Amino acid sequence: MKGKKTSESYCLGIESTADDFGVGISTFNGKILANIISAYIPPEGGIHPREAARHHAKVGNKVLEEAFQKAGIKPRDLSIISFSQGPGLGPCLRTGATVARALASYLDIPLVGVNHCVAHIEIGKLKTGAEDPVTLYVSGGNTIVSAFDSGRYRVFGETLDVALGNCLDVFAREAGLHQRVGEPFGAVVEKLAANGKKLIHLPYTVKGMDMSFSGLLTAVINLLKKGEYKLEDLCYSLQETAFSMVTEVTERALAHTEKKEVLLTGGVAANKRLQLMIKAIAEEHDADFSVMPREFAVDNGAMIAWTGILAYKHGVVTPIEKSFVKLRWRLDEVEVPWVE
Ligand code: ATP
Ligand code: FE2
Repeated sequence: MKGKKTSESYCLGIESTADDFGVGISTFNGKILANIISAYIPPEGGIHPREAARHHAKVGNKVLEEAFQKAGIKPRDLSIISFSQGPGLGPCLRTGATVARALASYLDIPLVGVNHCVAHIEIGKLKTGAEDPVTLYVSGGNTIVSAFDSGRYRVFGETLDVALGNCLDVFAREAGLHQRVGEPFGAVVEKLAANGKKLIHLPYTVKGMDMSFSGLLTAVINLLKKGEYKLEDLCYSLQETAFSMVTEVTERALAHTEKKEVLLTGGVAANKRLQLMIKAIAEEHDADFSVMPREFAVDNGAMIAWTGILAYKHGVVTPIEKSFVKLRWRLDEVEVPWVE
């Protein structure tokens, strides 16, 4: 019953670090059979961890059922269960972990706790064919430039305060923009920015290899409130400044590591302007550029399922009594023995 390592083995992965509840099912060979995501959209304001967790608990069964149906398998066909163990919001993580533990105990199969940031990189490699990339992971909660070195994904640069996606979201909310299903705030800002022409000077903060977006955010909100500039120009300038910061750090990581691939992922990776900027520096360094398709760039269960498989094949299992969630589990704390 426990984990036959054949092509008929399946892993179900649960993702619940923040506002999305996702369930993915993958074969041990990396064929993604299902990837169902249910996003929590707050009525107004930012994410309230407890309300998002309540959403996850409410939709959990439905999302699981849908995933089994899509994959065309039954719970009994599973060999392992994986879940995102961190980093993330406590109540959200705990909800996903509870579902994962219950399933693993009921089916009497191994449980594997997965680091959410590692999972973004692994699904990126699986889906794009990149083998050893410098990864720029930019989302609502994360801004990380990383690359593999000596057994781990090292963090070359990261945000010291708010994440890039959050910076765009907060600005959009301040500007009274509306978020619709399927159109995140970042996409709304992107549309407006496309009609911006005037580049307004805004704080650009790269300290060593780390970035800070909070000064930039405060400055652009202050300008917004003054009402002297067009919203399009503010969006354009915000994007140009913030994206230049992440591009600078990614380029320096690329120059330093001399890797030959660049991978762009996370919700913000959908942005065409950012894609162009990262592609340009990749080309300058003769590196291949890949961007993750949205389904696998945003928080999703498939990435957790796939990373669970990689870890499990290398002997990693998480006993239930050690399956507590890790709110601040850093990418570079995780050993990744499956990477050469
Ligand atoms: P994480 O838990 O990894 O931090 P998340 O919960 O923020 O992820 P994602 O879906 O990966 O979820 O990312 C959402 C972010 O992506 C939001 O900040 C959103 O505004 C941003 N985003 C989405 N589309 C675009 C776009 N076209 N341009 C810029 N930002 C975008
Ligand atoms: Fe994420």
